[in-house]
Amino acid sequence: MNEHPLHSAARKPRHIAIIMDGNGRWAKARRRPRTLGHRAGASAVNLSIDFCIAEGIDTLTLFAFSSENWQRPAEEVSALMGLFLRVLDRELDELHRRDVRLRFIGARADFSDELQTRMQAAEILTAANKTLNLCIAASYGGRWDITQALRAIALQVRDGELQPEQIDEALISQHISLADLPQPDLLIRTGGDHRISNFLLWQLAYTELYFSETLWPDFNAQSLQAALDDYAQRERRFGLTSAQLPDTLA
Ligand code: FPP
Repeated sequence: MNEHPLHSAARKPRHIAIIMDGNGRWAKARRRPRTLGHRAGASAVNLSIDFCIAEGIDTLTLFAFSSENWQRPAEEVSALMGLFLRVLDRELDELHRRDVRLRFIGARADFSDELQTRMQAAEILTAANKTLNLCIAASYGGRWDITQALRAIALQVRDGELQPEQIDEALISQHISLADLPQPDLLIRTGGDHRISNFLLWQLAYTELYFSETLWPDFNAQSLQAALDDYAQRERRFGLTSAQLPDTLA
């Protein structure tokens, strides 16, 4: 669905992407292990799903584990993998019942066979669901995403199926993760840092950015509503002038 984003822009975002930062600091403030922060972060994930369903948001994309997170201490990585498995086990049926479509983006071959199998099973089970697209970015990096898209295109050129002159932005967009979904309208980053950290680099070109000091485990419906209220005040111009915008958007 590569329609021009001007047509999708509205006062309420259709697609929200979130960098869920601050689990470690949340735990440290309580003198508890970082893994407890990740568990509290999983509860905040549930709250954000509830909120998006209640508000009629079409798509929620969550940065759960970056390409770089593999370099964290082995015990933290292993605890996170265990948490992902438990959450999938615990929540999948309920997500399916609530008509949520789950998908995973990232280098999934990096994960254990067990996790890969569960991810695929969850995607198949929920493939026809319509209420909310829930996209989990895991072993994901924006540079990885662009690289895998270019590699797929290069193979087509090598095999004579494509001429280099045919490579344009639309073609690259078709090979990037989430190609069939509207691009994110709103990116939220919690935890006080103001950076993209190799998240959806291609897809965020015209996304509104919202930074919150709140640590992810404390981010709740009220915090999400504050982000939506802020978004509703933004004027999205996509490179045009205010005067050129359709009345519904200006
Ligand atoms: C960043 O906080 C958070 C992560 C690397 C993990 C995110 C995982 C969850 C929220 C758990 C559950 C997720 C799903 C999808 C079920 P940080 O550890 O970098 O925090 P810090 O900056 O305070 O150290």
